[in-house]
Formats: sequence, structure tokens, C-alpha cells
Amino acid sequence: MDPSARETYDVVGIGFGPSNLSLAIALEEHEANVPARPISAAFFERQPSFGWHRNMLLPAATMQISFLKDLATFRNPVSRYSFIAYLHAADRLVQFVNNQTFFPTRQEFHQYLEWAESSFSDRVSYNSEVTAIRRATGTGPGEPECLQIEVRDGIGGGCRLVHARNVAISTGLVPRMPAGVERDDRVWHSSEFLEKYGQVDPNALKSVAVVGAGQSAAEITRFLHDALPHARVFAVVPSYGYSVADDTPFANRVFDPSAVDDYYFGTEQTREAFWRYHRNTNYSVVDDEIIRDLHQRAYDEDVRNDRRLHFLNLTRVDDVQRIGTEIRVGLRSLIDVEAQTLDVDALVFATGYGAMQPTGLLGDLDRYCLRDAAGRHRAERDYRLVTTPELSCGIYLQGGTEHTHGLTSSLLSNVAVRSGEIADSIVRRRAEEHEHEPVASLGTAGRTG
Ligand code: FDA
Ligand code: NAP
Repeated sequence: MDPSARETYDVVGIGFGPSNLSLAIALEEHEANVPARPISAAFFERQPSFGWHRNMLLPAATMQISFLKDLATFRNPVSRYSFIAYLHAADRLVQFVNNQTFFPTRQEFHQYLEWAESSFSDRVSYNSEVTAIRRATGTGPGEPECLQIEVRDGIGGGCRLVHARNVAISTGLVPRMPAGVERDDRVWHSSEFLEKYGQVDPNALKSVAVVGAGQSAAEITRFLHDALPHARVFAVVPSYGYSVADDTPFANRVFDPSAVDDYYFGTEQTREAFWRYHRNTNYSVVDDEIIRDLHQRAYDEDVRNDRRLHFLNLTRVDDVQRIGTEIRVGLRSLIDVEAQTLDVDALVFATGYGAMQPTGLLGDLDRYCLRDAAGRHRAERDYRLVTTPELSCGIYLQGGTEHTHGLTSSLLSNVAVRSGEIADSIVRRRAEEHEHEPVASLGTAGRTG
């Protein structure tokens, strides 16, 4: 390709979930401040349309953060992309306030995200999976270096190349299964739950099991107990019982924007203390309301002498075998040391997620990215990977930075401020390349935390 003919974006976003949607908003709001020199951006998403954990949009599931931690408010409280602006547009603001809750359903929040996304459809390509990022060749003399991004079209199957000065990788969490266990039409991970559940005849499910003691496991257990009134439902719980997600005010401060600085600039001991004391704000924990609901259900069944909701506590799943249509689950209990098995018609692994991992996409580019003593990617405070001086382009991460920036890295809590900080960094670095360019700050404007 003739290098002079190709368009080079200021930034290409890989994945278009809430994180990069929030970045698109931050960039647009920069453009409103400095209209003369907008940041050019394009986003690529492999799903056919916008979707935020669609397979877990269970009817009763609520958000785990305040609606005020939306795509923009903490960065810009007067943004037109706030959850409140959405409610106003949907003519539900007054009734929402009458509900007196900070925690809307995930279904309503999904509608909000879709509403916000609809303003960016000209910048997003769906059915477009990014398969590789490389250093571009053929840059003209005096031109800044750029990256080449390879995008596979999910419908036609063809590939195209786009170019950018920066990439923002935001490909999301990676579903985790126990070692050696394979998924199939009756063995599912929670991330595919509603899709797989919709493909079976509910009458064929006489006995089902859900593995795990986190929010996904509790929500799916409750859903199956409601949806399959004829079935026995087993919850395989590795702890003695579900533990509550601590969202009391002091603990919740670990999700504040300022906690990112405390974590990032802290010592190894600081970081270790965050995890030791506050892991239970997010991982392997369940909202109070659902814990009480599940306990009440089991109790009521005992009162009726008709128990079909069973909790196998201090128990982990070791292996899974298929016997015809039936699934034999190998259990390891810390109470009864004898190995046990459980036969079910469907098995759901709500066994959590691994962190976003950019290595596969980076390929050969990874050798320019520096790592810490534990072999993890180093990241600047502005979420840019630390690279060797040869690489001047920016590789920003939205996710996968828990080891450098703390608990909020994979969550929505800090998404507005984080996206503003990334947008600021892109704007600032471009201005440094073009000396006289005006810079307007987004990351700290209107920041409340
Ligand atoms: P997200 O995973 O949402 O989006 C990544 C996108 O990248 C996906 O759309 C994917 O298709 C796309 N993609 C992946 N690889 C690609 C490639 N190579 N090319 C192109 N596209 C690619 N947190 C919180 O703070 N409050 C909450 O209430 C919840 N609730 C919640 C519910 C459930 C069921 C889960 C599993 C998780 C949460 N979370 C949460 C945490 C969750 O990580 C967070 O809500 C967001 O999904 C993070 O947004 P991202 O855009 O970073 O990732
Ligand atoms: P999680 O919190 O990581 O929980 C995974 C669970 O699986 C843990 O209890 C883990 O136990 C258990 N487990 C792993 N391997 C096991 C095995 N072999 N046998 C038995 N148990 C096993 O994952 P999650 O519940 O999916 O939550 C992930 C994120 O999504 C969290 O941020 C959560 O808040 C969010 N989420 C939000 C909503 C919502 O907004 N309504 C809904 C669902 C999820 P150990 O810890 O002992 O390994």
C-alpha cells in the first residue's frame, strides 16, 4: 500500500465493551473542548452487535455498583452520556428516583449502554475480530511510527489492515474452567449460560448442578431453581457457605479513583494489603440479598419436607465424565474424604475468569514490552505498556492491570476516570509531537473521587 494513501488513526480500540465505549465518549468530549484538532479513532468488536455479558442478563440480576459509576459521570458530571441523561431520554427519571435504589437491574444498565453506544455506530465495526498488532513498515521519512492492526471480518472471513499511532486493548475477562474439564452442549461456563440453556428442553433437565461460590454461581442457582420447578438443583460450594460481598462504605473506598494512585505508587506491601484485606469486595463473594434468598428457599423446602435445592459445601469439582446424555461429576469434599460422584443432566461452571491477557494479540510486538520480576507486563500510570525506547507508539490496556493499578482494573467502578486518563495521555503525547497543539484535560475534569 502507498503509505501516503493510508489513514492513520490516533487510536484504534480493540473490543467495544463498556471500557472502550467510555473511551469513545471521553474522546468525543475532548473534541467538544478542542474542535480544531479532534482525535481520530476507530473501534473493532468481534460480536455482531453491542453486548455486555449478555449470557448473564438474568431477570433479577442487579448492578454491583452505583448507577453513578456510569460511563462518564465521575469524569464529567455534566456529560450527556450519563445514566441520568439516559433515564431522562427514556422518560423514566422520575420513576427511577421513586425506586430509591443505587443499583438498577443489569437489564436496564444494558439498555443504557446500548443507548450510549448508538451515538458511536459510525466509529465501530462489528463482526470484526482483531487478530494481530504489528509495527507498521513503510512509514515515510519524518512521519511518526505507527502500528498495523489486522482485523478479520466475521461474516466474509476476509482480513483488512488499519493503522494507528496508539491502540487501546480492551478485550475483557477470560472464562476459567477447572483444568482438564471440557465444555460441551450440557457442560457450560457461566459466560455462555443463557445461550446454552436456551438450546435445551427444560423438561429434559431433571437434575442440574452449579459449581462455585461467587455472584455468578448464586445468580444461576437461583435462576435454575425458579425456571425448573420439577428439577433437583445442586450447588457445589467450595467454602462452608456463600460469603457476603463487602460493599460497606469504608471497604468500598478501594474502588475510588484515588485508590488507584495509592495502589500504583505504593510498595509491594501496600499492594499485598489491598488484596489481603479487600479481595472479598469482589471475588468469590455474593450479594447479601441473594444469600438470604437462597437460604430461605432451602429452609422453606425443609418445612414442606420436599427438599430439591441442595448445597454441597466444602466441595470442589475434580473431573467430569459424559455417560450418554448424563454427566458424572467427580467431587472432592473436605468433610467426607471418600471421593463422591453426582449425576446430572446439565452442569454449569461459575468458576470465574482470568485477567485480560494481551500477549496473544501482541505477538512479536511483545518483545518491546517490558516485564516485572514476576514476568508480568509493566504499565505506566496512564495504563500504557512500558516499552523499550525503539517503540514510540502507545499500547494502552483497559483491563489486565490488576497487578499495577489494583482491583478496579477489570471493573466498571473507575471506567469513566480511567478512560479520561487514557484519552488525556493520547492527547498529551500527540501535542508533544506537534509542539503547538492545544491540550485540554479530560482525566481530572469534574472528578469527584
Ligand atoms: P468486556 O468484556 O465487557 O468487553 C470486551 C469486548 O471485547 C467484548 O465485547 C468482546 O467481544 C470484545 N473482544 C474480545 N476480543 C476481541 C478481539 N480480538 N477483537 C475484537 N473484539 C474483541 N463490574 C462492575 O464494576 N460492576 C458490575 O455490576 C459488574 N457486573 C458484571 C457481571 C458479569 C456477569 C460479569 C462477568 C462481570 C461483571 N463486572 C462488573 C465486571 C466486568 O469485567 C465489567 O463489567 C466490564 O465487562 C468490563 O468492560 P470491558 O469493556 O473492559 O470488557
Ligand atoms: P468468582 O467471583 O471468581 O467466583 C468463582 C468461584 O468458583 C469461586 O467461589 C471459586 O472458589 C469457585 N471455583 C473455582 N474452581 C472450582 C472448582 N473446581 N470447584 C468448585 N468451585 C470452584 O467469579 P464470578 O462469580 O463469575 O464473578 C466474577 C466477576 O463478575 C465479579 O467481579 C463479580 O462481581 C461479577 N459478576 C457480577 C454480576 C452482577 O453484576 N450482577 C453477576 C455475576 C458476576 P475458590 O475461590 O475457592 O477458587
